[in-house]
Amino acid sequence: MSHEERSTIEARLAEEEYYSPNPEFIGQANVSDRSVYDRFDEFPDGFEEYAELLDWDEHWTDVLDASNPPFYDWFVGGKLNASYNCIDRHLDAHRDKTAIIWEGEPGDSRRLAYQDLYREVNEFAAMFRDAGIGADDVVTFHLPVIPELPIGMLAAARIGAPHSVVFGGFTAAALANRLDDANSRYLVTIDGYYRRGKFLDHKQKADEAVEQASVDVDTVFVLQREKELHPETKIVEGRDVVVEDVRSQYRGAHVEPVPRASDDILFLMYTSGTTGKPKGAQHGTGGYLSYVAGTSKYLFDIHSTDTYWCLADIGWITGHSYMVYGPLLLGATSMMYEGAPDHPHKGYIWELAEKHAVDIFHTSPTAVRMFMKWGETHLEPYDFEFKLLVSVGEPIQPEVWRWYYDHVGRGDTVIIDTWWQTETGGVVMSNLPALADMKPGSVGHPMPGIQATVLDDDGNEIEPGTGTAGNLVLTRPWPGILQTLYGDDERYISEYWEKFSDLESRNMDDWIYRTGDGAVEAADGYFRILGRLDDVMNVSGHRLGSMELESTIVEVPAVAEAAVVARDDPVKGQVPDAYVVLKEGVEPSDDLREAVVASVAEGIGKFARPAHVEFVDALPYTKSGKIMRRLLSDISNDRELSDTTTLEDPSVPEQIRRQVQGA
Ligand code: PRX
Repeated sequence: MSHEERSTIEARLAEEEYYSPNPEFIGQANVSDRSVYDRFDEFPDGFEEYAELLDWDEHWTDVLDASNPPFYDWFVGGKLNASYNCIDRHLDAHRDKTAIIWEGEPGDSRRLAYQDLYREVNEFAAMFRDAGIGADDVVTFHLPVIPELPIGMLAAARIGAPHSVVFGGFTAAALANRLDDANSRYLVTIDGYYRRGKFLDHKQKADEAVEQASVDVDTVFVLQREKELHPETKIVEGRDVVVEDVRSQYRGAHVEPVPRASDDILFLMYTSGTTGKPKGAQHGTGGYLSYVAGTSKYLFDIHSTDTYWCLADIGWITGHSYMVYGPLLLGATSMMYEGAPDHPHKGYIWELAEKHAVDIFHTSPTAVRMFMKWGETHLEPYDFEFKLLVSVGEPIQPEVWRWYYDHVGRGDTVIIDTWWQTETGGVVMSNLPALADMKPGSVGHPMPGIQATVLDDDGNEIEPGTGTAGNLVLTRPWPGILQTLYGDDERYISEYWEKFSDLESRNMDDWIYRTGDGAVEAADGYFRILGRLDDVMNVSGHRLGSMELESTIVEVPAVAEAAVVARDDPVKGQVPDAYVVLKEGVEPSDDLREAVVASVAEGIGKFARPAHVEFVDALPYTKSGKIMRRLLSDISNDRELSDTTTLEDPSVPEQIRRQVQGA
């Protein structure tokens, strides 16, 4: 951490301020009593309170088996089914109640009661089963936010098949990688979908991905966005199943939910790491569902009478835990929106919030910064009233927090800032909303049962209140923790545990989970998250690895090598800047710049496109041959150059800086 970064933290700490939750909120909150928190906080037995929110086919015998760290088993011996818990068990009490409100971009909308969800999930489950999908076969979904995505996920879970949802914005190449890594022979796609009024072809990506993948994809299920399949959609005979064509065979089907052992896989979620290859975070059934149910109830304060709206994409972990599983496990109404937030107008989100009387609204700092930029006049005409607001995915700056509070919360709504990761399954740092004051820019405390601390690079604890930043680590397991990286236990250990754990020990106290984030703990015990310490960036809340971007850039034939770093951006949080060295004799040109950007757009997705491409003569290499991205990041962010002494050629960064400044 550079001197400047430290002083910024200290400067920020000076503006500490607290806001109290309003009495109406406290009066209705699921937890408003400190003693309840204390009960949850007992480790590990407090987590039983979360597991008791579910219906188990077989009750567990032990809460935690930690005999083989860092592979933890929660609710050992228990059996349950996710789909049964999200749907069937609610039917007696509220069959007619809305489970999902869906708003499509061109203005179409759907409302599914729990009974409708039951019917559709069973039909899908029967269709999957008939296609030969059995327990433990991974089903990959590559879809936009449409009701068939949660329906398909729950149908797979019903028959014991893990789902692997790939964000719809990913390209064919990214999809092919994930199909291969998961050895997934079943893919669910759609003919296309709308963005800002335009119909985009999506099926083509599935075709290309299946072509590129090494795994043999047996069946591609093709959904359709409109009544008729898009006329240009190509169907491959013998492989593709047009869902609408076979649906009628399954009308009224009932598929018995398959009881899953607590540690059976529920899903895979691919995320970015520090190498080019995405990591398949593997989540189990019992621990994950318990943790998500518990945090949804006690942190997000979801009551079964609430309409809860998370403005995320189901293709990321937030969508899994807190659009699909959390709200449905609690029998609430989950609202989903397919489209862009400014289409057809910049007040549309607030128009929908009013229309559906949304109680809880959940979004990212990037979205709040965008709303802020558009201006509060877009909110003013609408009559919405939230009881709770949620922020997730990136640090929220105090001034952005205040705008969220003043304009979306209209000056008295409780806000929770929730820190977590794909790997943690659910939120692990945040305040239970009725129990602690809010502090803009801080995520608050570790959740009940969670133990977090900040370590320096040598593994020593940093004293709270000193303003010194360090590595945020979690020193005890929790039920939502990933089980491993799919098929790669070694990488699981090296990515998360190796740095601070005693790898020889069989005692879980010696195992420390490295989050990859930097944080500061204030004297009052509130944590402030500073962002990633590794080569991972956060672009509009999308997690991207430098290496992933670099490996797509070097696919451009004229490119010799590339380094990608994050530049701070006032709206997106961060954007990628690419530094590119061309092959001998190749001259930089605008066409090449476009080719670099296009290569990322095609290799990963448009959301990952570099904001800036700088052609340079050389990259800063250390004497041991590693690219020092830190120095490029100093240049991109207009900071003074940090230490260059370990460089092979210490003049390189200065040359690049002059070039960038001259540009
Ligand atoms: O850097 C942290 C940031 O997002 C990373 C995790 O990204 P992902 O696995 O895609 O999950 C995002 C949604 C949970 C973290 O390592 N992050 C997440 N929440 C916050 C955050 N940074 C600051 N404040 C947060 N509340």
